[in-house]
This record gives sequence, structure tokens and C-alpha cells, in this order.
Amino acid sequence: MNFCQNSYFISCPRGLEEVLQKEVAALSPFIEKSSIEYGGIEIQTANPEPALKAILHSRVASRVYQKIAAATIRDNQDLYRRILEVDWPDFIPLDGTFKVQTITHFGASFQHEDFKNTLFVSRKAKDAIVDRFRKDYGKRPNVDPHIPDVTILLYLSRVRERIHLSILVDLCGEPLGNRHYRKEDFSAPLRENIAAGILYLSEWDPKNEIFIDSMCGSGTLLIEAHLMKANIPPSYIKLKHKLNHPREKMWSLEKFTTFPESEIAPLWKKLVSNAARERSERAPLTTIFGYDKDAAAITVAKKNAGQFRAIHIEKRNALSLTPPTKDATGGVIFCNPPYGVRLESENLEGVKNLYHAYTEHLKQNFKGYRAFILTSSALDLKKVVKLKTKARYPLFNGDLECRLLRYDLY
Ligand SMILES: C[S@@+](CC[C@H](N)C(=O)[O-])C[C@H]1O[C@@H](n2cnc3c(N)ncnc32)[C@H](O)[C@@H]1O
Repeated sequence: MNFCQNSYFISCPRGLEEVLQKEVAALSPFIEKSSIEYGGIEIQTANPEPALKAILHSRVASRVYQKIAAATIRDNQDLYRRILEVDWPDFIPLDGTFKVQTITHFGASFQHEDFKNTLFVSRKAKDAIVDRFRKDYGKRPNVDPHIPDVTILLYLSRVRERIHLSILVDLCGEPLGNRHYRKEDFSAPLRENIAAGILYLSEWDPKNEIFIDSMCGSGTLLIEAHLMKANIPPSYIKLKHKLNHPREKMWSLEKFTTFPESEIAPLWKKLVSNAARERSERAPLTTIFGYDKDAAAITVAKKNAGQFRAIHIEKRNALSLTPPTKDATGGVIFCNPPYGVRLESENLEGVKNLYHAYTEHLKQNFKGYRAFILTSSALDLKKVVKLKTKARYPLFNGDLECRLLRYDLY
């Protein structure tokens, strides 16, 4: 068994791995090595700062895990023995709760009786953790499958003919995409970290360019754009709460048994207090505009945008929009039209007509802008959109495969 100290896995929605790698690299100079993996990146760093900063500042990350051990195993007895070797009492408090999750990445042709059922693997690991506590203390912490204090992730993959086990521990608690600004949903809202990823992919320049979401629904893109422009950390609501309740343990790492005495504790305290103060000095000018034809969507978007008065939100049909300011030098016009899981029950012809009319309207009215459409990968737009696709990015909104399409309008 190899015990690791300097290795972290930062997960993100699939399709945004490269964006995440760039974002995290800009957060801290201490990363020694970084590699793109399936659904995230792995970083090596003797200094924990990059991982801790990712928890507070990454707009694209879903979670940050510390890799605590790795081993090659043959069967579930081997798995049990390896898990038993970890000093779990250092992480999980006796009076705390935990859960184990397992992900396997074996490839289609591989079959192993012991590892085909991930729930069974997680249960075996849970038994080992409990047995380790009983051995050390004669007592054990409880399992909470919903909101545990500590989540352990097992990642099993195949390396040549052997099975490789990585044991990771989640440092976050709730997913980092939960920003807490969303008071209400409307239609099919985008996850917050996917929205932020789309903004990065659009190469929007917050200082000099306009951003328009022409079918804004509940306003996710608008709020993420504002947070970026005003340099407000994505964790700003939790940070504010933390400042008012410094003793409350709001992230999983704060709940680890050894956290208070660890070298991480003072660094974390400093990073939290710096992040809580971070934001642009001046209120930014309004360059973020959201429209929707549905009055109910506008009400929800305004409620979600709340305190951010610099975001302009208005009920308008995307098919009659014109650039919001005459002297604008262009920017990004985005839309995430109705599509996807409900497509069969929706009027497919109607959706295609909307794409056609919308893109024809953009051609005439938004010269100099970069247009982005997020749509279902099942929808063939070639026949209805008469614009040259400049770039195509596959993205996953949960399990739903989407595409972000870029059109440059001249
Ligand atoms: C999938 S939702 C967008 C969700 C949004 N991205 C979010 O995160 O909440 C699609 C939105 O397009 C709006 N819409 C459809 N056709 C429109 C049109 N012609 N003009 C403006 N909005 C339109 C719908 O009212 C709906 O709110």
C-alpha cells in the first residue's frame, strides 16, 4: 500500500476538464504536476494551497478530493485488507458520520465477479472502516448515505492485468456547484459550474465585452457572469456565513478529526478570510443582459439575481432583440433553448423553427458578436442553422449529453 499526501483529484462536469486545468493552474504557483483525467484533473503538490484554493475559488470544479492511499488488488479480500490499513480515525470523528462511494473504470471487455457491483464494493469498504474503529476504540461512527460528515471515494481501474485501487477523501462536503444564490428553478436550469465553464469556453472578456443570455430562464449564466466580472468567489455565500459563524464546520475538511492540529488549519483560515474579502472595489457597469419571453422566468431570474442590480433582466422575445447599447463593441450572445430530455414530447418542428429563426435574426442584428448555443447532442442543427460552426464542445449536464456550438457573426 502506498500512502499519498501530495495528490488531489478535482472533479468537474465531463467536457470541462481542460477548462478546469487552466483555471486551477491560475490559482496557485505551487502545482508540481497536473494531468487531465476522466471527469476531472489530478494535481501533485507538496503545498496544499492549490487544492484548498480550488475549494473556495474554482467556478468549474464539482469537488476536491485528497488521495490518501493507492494499492494494487486482486479481489475483495485484498480490498478489505487495504482499507483496514488506513488510519480512518484521523479523518472520521467517532461521533461523526461517513459514507463510501465507488467508481469503476475498467473498460467494456473486463469482468470481475468481486467488482462488478459498486454498491457491494462500497459495503465491503464500509465494513473494513467500521472494523478498524472497533479494533482501535471498541466503538464506531455511523453511516449517513445522504449528508455525511466525511465521504470516501474508491476509484478502481485496470492497469494491465491488475486492478488499481485509489482511496480518496472528499474535502468539500456539498458539491461546489451549489452556490446557494438560487432561490427558485425555472424550466431546466443549468448547473452553476457548467454555466461558469461555458463562460470560460466563450472567452468572454468581462472588462470590455457585453454578455447576453437571450433565453435566460432562471438566470444561471447571468449570475455566474456577474460573479466573474465583479471578481466575487463562487463560494461567496458560504464565506459570508463562515465569517459570521467562524466555529461552524462548513466544509468536510474542517470536520476531519486531526484538522484542528494540522498544518492545513492556519492556511485554510487565512485563505477563507482572504477569499471573503475578495471582490472588485467598484460596482461594475451593466454589461450583462438577460431576456426571456416568459414572464414567470423573468420573475425567477430577478429573484435569483437578488442583490446584483448590475444585471439587466427583461421580458423580451429573443427573435426581436437588438444589441442593448449602440456603442458596444460586441461580445457574447448565448442561449440555451428548450431541448433535450423532453424533446420527444415537445414539438420537434417547433424547436427547429425556433433555431432557424433565431440564428437568422442574429445574422442580421448581432454582427461582431460571438453566438453560442447549448443544445442536445441528439438534435441535428445543420439543416436549420445557416451559419458556419466555428467550434463545437461536447458537454455533459448530469448524464445528458449536450453540445456547445460557437458561431462568429460578421
Ligand atoms: C432550458 S431554459 C433555459 C434555462 C437557463 N439556462 C437556466 O439556467 O435557468 C429555456 C428558456 O428559453 C425560453 N425561451 C424559449 N423561446 C424563447 C424565445 N423565443 N425568446 C426568449 N426566450 C425563449 C424559455 O422561456 C425558457 O425559459
